[in-house]
Amino acid sequence: MDKLVIEGGKSLSGTIRIHGAKNAALPILAASLLAAGKVQLSNVPRLLDIEVMLDILERIGCTTLHDQETVVVDTSSANSFHVPEDLMKQMRSSIFLMGPLLSRFGEVAVYQPGGCAIGERKIDLHLRGLKALGAEIEELDQQIICRADKLKGADIHLDFPSVGATENIMMAAAMAEGTTTLTNAAREPEIQDLQNFLNAMGASIIGAGTDTITIQGVSKLSPCSYTIIPDRIVAGTVMIAAAATRGNVTLTHCNPAHLSSLIHVLKRAGVQISILNDIMNVSCMSRPKAVERIVTLPYPSFPTDLQSQVMVLLSLADGFSVMKETVFEGRFKHVDELTRMGADISIDLNCAFIRGVQRLYGATVEATDLRAGAALVIAGLAAQGKTIVEQVHHIDRGYEHIEQLFQKLGADIHRLSPVPKSLDLAN
Ligand code: UD1
Repeated sequence: MDKLVIEGGKSLSGTIRIHGAKNAALPILAASLLAAGKVQLSNVPRLLDIEVMLDILERIGCTTLHDQETVVVDTSSANSFHVPEDLMKQMRSSIFLMGPLLSRFGEVAVYQPGGCAIGERKIDLHLRGLKALGAEIEELDQQIICRADKLKGADIHLDFPSVGATENIMMAAAMAEGTTTLTNAAREPEIQDLQNFLNAMGASIIGAGTDTITIQGVSKLSPCSYTIIPDRIVAGTVMIAAAATRGNVTLTHCNPAHLSSLIHVLKRAGVQISILNDIMNVSCMSRPKAVERIVTLPYPSFPTDLQSQVMVLLSLADGFSVMKETVFEGRFKHVDELTRMGADISIDLNCAFIRGVQRLYGATVEATDLRAGAALVIAGLAAQGKTIVEQVHHIDRGYEHIEQLFQKLGADIHRLSPVPKSLDLAN
């Protein structure tokens, strides 16, 4: 397993381009199955999760090409509705294939998905949505089989605005007979991106970005070319790292409108932020201030995917902050690791109480999930001394070469990969 070695204490400075959004690219790649032919996507990040999705598409008969930031998926030869168990277990987003495969083949067989260990992560809302559209669902131990000769539009209310369930239902309903109205839908920017992509293929969907999405089923979708939106969580991670290291960083190719809740929190912490179109400058010349209370909630509120990273900043802030996590129940795994670096954080149920310290100290820590891993990298960059972050494969799921990203901003960070057995002469 790779490790990251960070010699902390350097202020980040410089300019960085933000890559495309993983969470937009994954459902869009799955949605490409809805049209037979070649879909071309630009601004697709080179990430582990994207590779897994492309692997799945290949295993069900598509051909794929990922060159730089462009992906071409030819779905004309897709011939299987069976998502392989080994790949399904690697990534929760494989669940996105349910809607498109069901729509294309009238049947889909998947397994309970894997992914980050950040909580229970049920799929009941996905299944209930597909059932409402007319699918028959059979659950056999770990396998789930859905069948529908013809999907039919329906009124669907989500008990919780699940991002994945909203996307799955949109994809399944795009070619269903009649109209689907989805209420209490998730409002994340990635859902708007999916709507735009589906509409570019000929779908008739309105309302993404609000809590009501209306999908008028069409009989056919055709392949198209499309550009993925910038990754707001990667942008947010860089902004927080800039602030935590008291640096001065300019981000390009980002969408500041997607980051308004983070910008608000950072400003309350005393961080200076200036914005010009898709360029943002973030600087922090003095110790950040505590932020009394932050609550993670669905978009447009503060994102759970930036909770752990912001906690690093608050660990270094002047004063006492409270962070409440309401989206996932298992998302404080970074706290033990931060505590070993000198942070003063205590947990009570889903609240973290953070007393800012003057300094964090380098330590050997373990990335337990994707965003927790990113938080530990930020902590290592800001800390005094050497930090080793283990289990880097979690971070590689969502950040393109995170060490190169921060090297460009002047950080002393490098990756240690294990010596391949054949070269390990000592063994
Ligand atoms: C997506 C994002 C992830 C982000 C999360 C919340 C992708 C690929 N991933 O994940 O980075 O952290 O949104 O912003 O876009 N739930 C149920 N039943 C369901 C579905 C969800 O109870 O059928 C619950 C989950 O257990 C969780 C909450 O709803 O507690 C939010 O999950 P959801 O919005 O579905 O997140 P994901 O789509 O998995």
